[in-house]
Amino acid sequence: MLRKTYPYYLAGTAVKGKAKLDVIDKYTGDVATRVALPDAAALERAIDAAHAAAGPMRQFKPFQRQAVLEHCVARFRERRDELAYALCVEAGKPIKDSVGEVERLIDTFKIAAEEAVRINGETLNLEISARTAGYHGYTRRVPLGPVAFITPFNFPLNLVAHKVAPAIAAGCPFVLKPSERTPLGALIIGEVLAETDLPRGAFSILPMTGRDAEALVTDPRLKLLSFTGGLVGWDLKAKAGHKKVVLELGGNAACIVDADQGPQLDAVVDRLVFGAFYQSGQSCISVQRILVHDDVYDALRRKLVAKVKALKAGDPKKKSTFLGPMIDTAAAERLESWIVEAKKAGARLLCGGGRKRAMLEATLLENVPREAKLQRMEAFGPVAVLQRFISFDEAIAAANDSDFGLQAGVFTNDLRHAMRAWDELEQGGVIVNDVPSFRVDNMPYGGTKSSGIGREGVRYAIEDMTETRLLVIREA
Ligand code: SIN
Repeated sequence: MLRKTYPYYLAGTAVKGKAKLDVIDKYTGDVATRVALPDAAALERAIDAAHAAAGPMRQFKPFQRQAVLEHCVARFRERRDELAYALCVEAGKPIKDSVGEVERLIDTFKIAAEEAVRINGETLNLEISARTAGYHGYTRRVPLGPVAFITPFNFPLNLVAHKVAPAIAAGCPFVLKPSERTPLGALIIGEVLAETDLPRGAFSILPMTGRDAEALVTDPRLKLLSFTGGLVGWDLKAKAGHKKVVLELGGNAACIVDADQGPQLDAVVDRLVFGAFYQSGQSCISVQRILVHDDVYDALRRKLVAKVKALKAGDPKKKSTFLGPMIDTAAAERLESWIVEAKKAGARLLCGGGRKRAMLEATLLENVPREAKLQRMEAFGPVAVLQRFISFDEAIAAANDSDFGLQAGVFTNDLRHAMRAWDELEQGGVIVNDVPSFRVDNMPYGGTKSSGIGREGVRYAIEDMTETRLLVIREA
């Protein structure tokens, strides 16, 4: 179902180019297809074109932007199966999860189509003293201008959508660098955008390495850099000059299970299994640290280990597969070495730990020392650690004992505990009675501490991609 080659998009036009980049089937390790590889000159031309398109995009009316986004929704619906298959191959994402991500891609564009026609301003009362009598103030949001996007491998469709769709709604031309390991999703989105009436130069999609794409970070004509990926984002911010920067850099999410969860433990365990292991834990909000009250710890551990051992691992193209490969062997080796390190430091392996190439078993550990990488860093793979607590204070302190703060989950029936968690957890979001891995595409999404700066979630991204312009009128 994949084509032999895919073009990149430069200023809205498909370019076949001579140089090619192999796209690997992450499960078989074979070359699945190839995409045209842009060079530094193409990037320069893309930035020039985005700069030139700022005016036409600003004048492109909200209903026209909405029509572009609605066209995308319709075409993604028609091309659902193709999108899901490409995602399954290029990311090794189990087909069930791939189908789910296509639905989220459609949602994200749908939300953006709605938001495109409700970017409003305010009427300000300026008559606050005799000096300002007769003055009236108004604001509206204007597009920031050309913007730069860098997206990761783990959601090659929906994390691209979270930048591209708000940019179109806001009226910003953009240059996108998708992950060079998973470029297909972005390029199919490009193909659909090329069918629309977007002004010339409004979009470029260039699958190149981060090193080759440095101009996206440093070029002063680009007014915003929105980056999703690892902690290297902070280095990019330091090089970004005067442009606005939005960073979503992941976490090592904690999920608290309170003392009162005994009666619904099976349901809690089901959600923990999903939150820790779906798409092999390669999500920034994957459950990594499970904090469990002493009253339910032993029962939860027993049920969780049994469920995790039963997870079906293997070929992501099969509907029955829950756990596919990690993105590559190096990533799986890295995480395997963290498991070994934790065990050497005294952790107890409850299940998993084995690895064959990029396939790392779903792994649970307990008694993992505080200093171990599995506690301190982002695992970004199918590994979670269990930890016991006695008081809710202790659980909050343990959840906050992290450099990261993206989302946390709290299973509790106690409203006071839920409210305390919302107050005291140092996170971008607190999810009560579900895992931190829960996300709907219109909610604000982003982190505190090392997890990043700014929020995505269409409306919030549109805020970042627009700025307030004030009008003051004095009564003549
Ligand atoms: C991420 O990995 O940051 C995205 C998670 C999601 O959209 O579900």
